[in-house]
Amino acid sequence: MDKLIVHGGNTLSGAINISGAKNASLPILAASLLTEDDVIIRRVPDVSDTNYMIQILSALGAHVERSSGTVRISAQTITHEAPYELVRKMRASICVMGPLLARLGQAMVSLPGGCVIGDRPVDLHLKGLRAIGADIDLEGGNMNMTTPNGLVGTEVDMRGKQGPTVLGTDNLMMAAVLAKGTTVIESAAAEPEVVDLANFLISMGAKIQGAGTRTITIEGVERLHGTEHTIIPDRIEAGTFMVAGAMAAGPEGITINRICKEHLEPVTEKLIESGHSVEFNEEGSSVKVAPASTPKGARIVTAPHPGFPTDMQAQFSALYATTPGLSVIEDTIFPQRFMHCAEMSRMGANMKVDNGTAVIDGTDKLSAAPVMASDLRASAALVLAALNAEGSTEINRLYHIDRGYEHIDEKLLALGAKVERVKER
Ligand code: EPU
Repeated sequence: MDKLIVHGGNTLSGAINISGAKNASLPILAASLLTEDDVIIRRVPDVSDTNYMIQILSALGAHVERSSGTVRISAQTITHEAPYELVRKMRASICVMGPLLARLGQAMVSLPGGCVIGDRPVDLHLKGLRAIGADIDLEGGNMNMTTPNGLVGTEVDMRGKQGPTVLGTDNLMMAAVLAKGTTVIESAAAEPEVVDLANFLISMGAKIQGAGTRTITIEGVERLHGTEHTIIPDRIEAGTFMVAGAMAAGPEGITINRICKEHLEPVTEKLIESGHSVEFNEEGSSVKVAPASTPKGARIVTAPHPGFPTDMQAQFSALYATTPGLSVIEDTIFPQRFMHCAEMSRMGANMKVDNGTAVIDGTDKLSAAPVMASDLRASAALVLAALNAEGSTEINRLYHIDRGYEHIDEKLLALGAKVERVKER
């Protein structure tokens, strides 16, 4: 197991490139099961979550080749059973359900287990798939699915207590593309990653309208064909480095390339509200972020896209921990996703978490301490806090960050941070 040592206090400068989006790659890799033809996907980030997904595709019988960000998949003959040993490692494995049902008429996928960011049920996934004709038995920790009368399109409202579901929308969309008739997904997730999946499916011959809005209409087709696709830039990785710019760059700022401006609006708005400088180039493909001379605290309430992403709240907790004054962060999507606050408190942050809300009384400087990463975005927040802290912070359980940030240590080094990856004993 690796750990990261961050020697804090260095001023960041220079430029980095953002990788392809992890959360777009995972369902798109799964969707390659929908055709017997070859599929080529570019800019797939080299992170452990995409590696797990590739292992699952291989275990299902697909032939997968990967070389520097490009993945070629040939799923000529596949089986319907996703092995538990792989599925249990990553919740997003459940996005093979839709493609397997559509292609084979059956699927057996383990129920994903608990998750440190909170209760993560699959009821909406099941609701969507059942609505279009799947028979689903839950037995022995598995979801056994069959389609006795085939998949048949219908209208489904996918709204849950916390709003729309991203992977639930993806699963239903992937199943519906080969169903008979028309499926209308109401209260659909509108995240850019859902739009990227829809564009991928459309390039395979699917008929989908409305992706990116709350109503997606899918007219089933007989078969899908091979395609080539480039994954969108990772807006969460970009947002994380934008926060790094606000927390630790010099007056010249840092430049973050290969981004998509329109996906970064809520993050940009919050950085500007705190007084930081955020300047995009004309094409919106690059941004320069520099810190405010006297930053101000702010209030964030997470919400489904186009609201402020839950996947960015931990990083903003780190920012506000080092912004003098009061800030408040409420996570309405995963109210238990505040494990990073206890760890940051060990570095001198003043944070009180209650009932899905963190109240943060910012201080100028944090101090180094050994800390433990608890999940992907929490670990990113700890890295950000450590960049600002005085002394050397040891971040243990680095595998969490390697699930979703491609070459994070190399990118930080390129910006002038002093970081070392070392093997934990
Ligand atoms: N929900 C249900 N029932 C369901 C599914 C979800 O009640 O069947 C609830 C969840 O408990 C949550 C809300 O609906 O309160 C939204 O969850 P969603 O289903 O949208 O989450 P997800 O699709 O499982 C994706 C991302 C997460 C991100 C969330 C929210 C991927 C692979 N994962 O998860 O990303 O936090 O959407 O935007 O796309 C991360 O990258 O660190 C990460 C956790």
